[in-house]
Amino acid sequence: MKKHFNVLVTRRLHKSALDELEKKCNVFLHNGKIPIPKKNLINKIKDMDGLICHPYDTIDKKVIKNAKNLKVISTFSVGFDHIDIDFAKSLGIKIGYTPEVLTNATAELTIGLILDVLRRISEGDRIIRNKKWNVIFGAYDYTGTEVSGKTIGIIGMGRIGREVAKKTNGLGMNVIYHNRKPVSKSIERKLKAKYVSESVLYKKSDIISLHVPYNNDTHHLMNSKIFKKMKKTSFLINTSRGKIVNEKQLVTALKTKEIQGAGMDVYESEPVHSNSLLLKLENVVLAPHVGSSTNETRQKMSDITVKNLVFALEGKKLLYSV
Ligand code: DGY
Repeated sequence: MKKHFNVLVTRRLHKSALDELEKKCNVFLHNGKIPIPKKNLINKIKDMDGLICHPYDTIDKKVIKNAKNLKVISTFSVGFDHIDIDFAKSLGIKIGYTPEVLTNATAELTIGLILDVLRRISEGDRIIRNKKWNVIFGAYDYTGTEVSGKTIGIIGMGRIGREVAKKTNGLGMNVIYHNRKPVSKSIERKLKAKYVSESVLYKKSDIISLHVPYNNDTHHLMNSKIFKKMKKTSFLINTSRGKIVNEKQLVTALKTKEIQGAGMDVYESEPVHSNSLLLKLENVVLAPHVGSSTNETRQKMSDITVKNLVFALEGKKLLYSV
């Protein structure tokens, strides 16, 4: 391929992936503020044939309309709620994304958050660092909740939801789930998972874990009404998208002990603001949106993001297309 394609990359990728991209395209790597300011994006995208973007780069109608030569948008993510997919597709623009390779990493973090919040690991770490651990083997201090034998309710039984089910099987948990439609009987058998209605899931789960994409239907899916339906001893885990949870109402539910705790990797606004009320709560474990952030997965995501883009420009089938 002659180097006649211009590609805007909104953030750094693995060097090997960028090198690969540079062999084939003229690369314009945005090095400044993250996410790339809208004005810069609109300005820079004018002459681009391809765009490599990341979650929280808002690729809306205004941006796309300004990109007269754009043939492909390749996002470094499994989520694509930051892109106006329908509009881009109506213009024949191809969309690439990076599912599968981050399934395991995200499921692992989900398990990490479950164990952390139920066994109060981060809370204990804070206690020690703040020099507040002063009784030797206080048998009833910092008691947590065992995960074995508990029921996890998985909302969204796609790739990540299934991997979480598989891993929680290994921890001796019972799995129930809700999805737009049930998965096949053979998958249910393999995952020892039982399909239930949303209301049964809210009522029966000891832990609820969210694995749905963010869209109009899932906006504030978890809100005060739902928290009231959940067990007072239950926990909420969110490794999908922040806006699926009404964070203000979650804080109230946690403060008033309507639910027992939460483990979160994603927030309504990221990075979490220093005056967020979440920071004042001991019964919440907070991770800085690192579900897919492992060296192994990031390398694969970089490679796929570049391949999706180059394949589209070469007129080939993308590895993963939305
Ligand atoms: C994704 O891929 O959508 C993740 O949230 C980013 O790590």
